[in-house]
Amino acid sequence: MSAWVLPPLILTGLILLCGGCDDMSHQPKALDNRPTPGLHELAPPTGTVARGELQDQAKLSDRPPMDAALLARGEQRYGIYCTPCHGLSGLGDGRIVQRGFSAPPPFTDERLSAAPDAYLLQVIAQGHGLMYGYAARVSPADRWAIVAHLRVLQFSQHAQVSQLPEALKQSLESAGQAR
Ligand code: HEC
Repeated sequence: MSAWVLPPLILTGLILLCGGCDDMSHQPKALDNRPTPGLHELAPPTGTVARGELQDQAKLSDRPPMDAALLARGEQRYGIYCTPCHGLSGLGDGRIVQRGFSAPPPFTDERLSAAPDAYLLQVIAQGHGLMYGYAARVSPADRWAIVAHLRVLQFSQHAQVSQLPEALKQSLESAGQAR
């Protein structure tokens, strides 16, 4: 190795070594659930809004139209998040309840049938008594879809034949005659 190659090599080595000295994981910083005193522990200044909160509020105050797509989405999301306790038909007899968890009231309870949408949205987001909230897992749009499905469950268990669309009425009647 000739003499003029050596100094640049040493220099490169030193630079690489110093890169290791500046270890980013050992600098002071705020970490979740650690008692690091600092700015993150202070209450946010009045008037500030957490990122995404305004959009969430807007979506919640904006009732989506009750169409087939919303109902399908609500049925699917309900199946994922609510059936384990509330059961497929909302009677409060889901698998977790069958294994000993406290039974929720049926959605057809008079009080819950009369409850405004805003109340149901709030229970989904924040939970109620023993039930934990789903704000972190169910988006505002999906909360609306689930509320729509709760209304379907409530309606379906007290629906009169006279309230059905003509085609359904006829197929019900012909099914009855076939028996
Ligand atoms: C782990 C079980 C569990 C899951 C999952 C669950 N709930 Fe509940 N829910 C309960 C229990 C238990 C109660 C009754 C709580 C109480 O009164 O202490 C309840 C109560 C309720 C009530 C009635 C509140 C009232 O005023 O009595 C509504 C509405 C409700 N849940 C909706 C939902 C929806 C919608 C989902 C899905 C997003 C869901 N729950 C998921 C267990 C659950």
